[in-house]
Amino acid sequence: MAVPSEVLIEMAKPIIHHRTSEFEEIFAEVREGLKYIYDTTQEVFILAASGTGAMEAAIANTLSRGDKALVVNGGKFGERWGKICRAYGLEVEELMVEWGHAVDPADIKKALDKDSSIKAVLVQASETSTGVMHPTKEIAEITGKRDDVILIVDGITGVGVFPLPFDEYGIDVLVGGSQKAFMLPPGLSFAAMSEKAWKFNETSDLPKFYFDFKAALKSAEKNTTPYTPAVTLVIGLAEVLKMFREEGRENMHKRHATLSLAVREAMKAIGLELYVKDTPSTALTTIVAPPEIGSGKVIKALSEEFGITVANGQDQAKGVIFRVSHIGDISKTDTLTMVAAIESVLNGLGYKFDFGAGTKKASEILSKA
Ligand SMILES: Cc1ncc(COP(=O)(O)O)c(C=O)c1O
Repeated sequence: MAVPSEVLIEMAKPIIHHRTSEFEEIFAEVREGLKYIYDTTQEVFILAASGTGAMEAAIANTLSRGDKALVVNGGKFGERWGKICRAYGLEVEELMVEWGHAVDPADIKKALDKDSSIKAVLVQASETSTGVMHPTKEIAEITGKRDDVILIVDGITGVGVFPLPFDEYGIDVLVGGSQKAFMLPPGLSFAAMSEKAWKFNETSDLPKFYFDFKAALKSAEKNTTPYTPAVTLVIGLAEVLKMFREEGRENMHKRHATLSLAVREAMKAIGLELYVKDTPSTALTTIVAPPEIGSGKVIKALSEEFGITVANGQDQAKGVIFRVSHIGDISKTDTLTMVAAIESVLNGLGYKFDFGAGTKKASEILSKA
């Protein structure tokens, strides 16, 4: 993951103490910046944990022992929602979705209509293991009509990537992570809570201490955290949020949409199949490697010949797909280089295609952006 040099420079400066007015000023700035990127008037909590920590905190701060949760499981991270819920003793109903496909909101409505004991719907805005974008807005329209059901969204590869306006959509808890669109090293995660989620919090009896949002809110209002924050990362975050303001939320969304479109169309132009046909996330593109080659060889060649890192598929998609990221500090230059490198390694691996067609396609799309 590339961290912009401006951010690295800020993080390399001498460390400051967190119980000082200097740090509180930075924290105040960060609070406002997070509200901007979440598009909310609610507090956005900063947790010293990777994304999974905020996923766990979202559950622990809203639900209660014995509650039933409806989990959308269409990939590794959907599966993780189920695992966390079970670890907290919740009853889990999994809505299984075929990998590479988005959940149908009608299935969520059906499940909620059938079982009034369901207290929460948990979903990924962008399922990073498959490259699918789930329909958060449509799901929020369903949960928004029910006072007794909250919507918990994992936006770890969604916040800052495509529109997820927290207040407007009516999301109840939205989780983000530092090492994705936030262009930071791993170690921070974020979460916002709606009024409805706070109502759930009043009666929530799941164990919580370090990630207790009530304590976090009390401290945040004084521009601090209940326990020692990850000072260096918060300082980096302040710089990142400045960059976000400069670019603007909508332009960020547009940038990710353009870069992902360029890669998808380029891959089609060289005869490769996209793993997600109808509902691709703009955070990443998942590409089916030529079956006679397999994705492992493509990934290895990209790394060895070009120093480019792309990820393999997981579980059933391992060796089948490779995953190209568009989030973080990724430019048009990086994107075009990526496409050209994919063509080069595929050619080297003996794949027969219209060599150069992908780079041409990507460059056409990027030239109009
Ligand atoms: C959609 C999604 N959810 C959850 C996670 C888990 O986050 P972490 O590994 O930061 O705990 C990731 C990480 O890649 C992710 O992409």
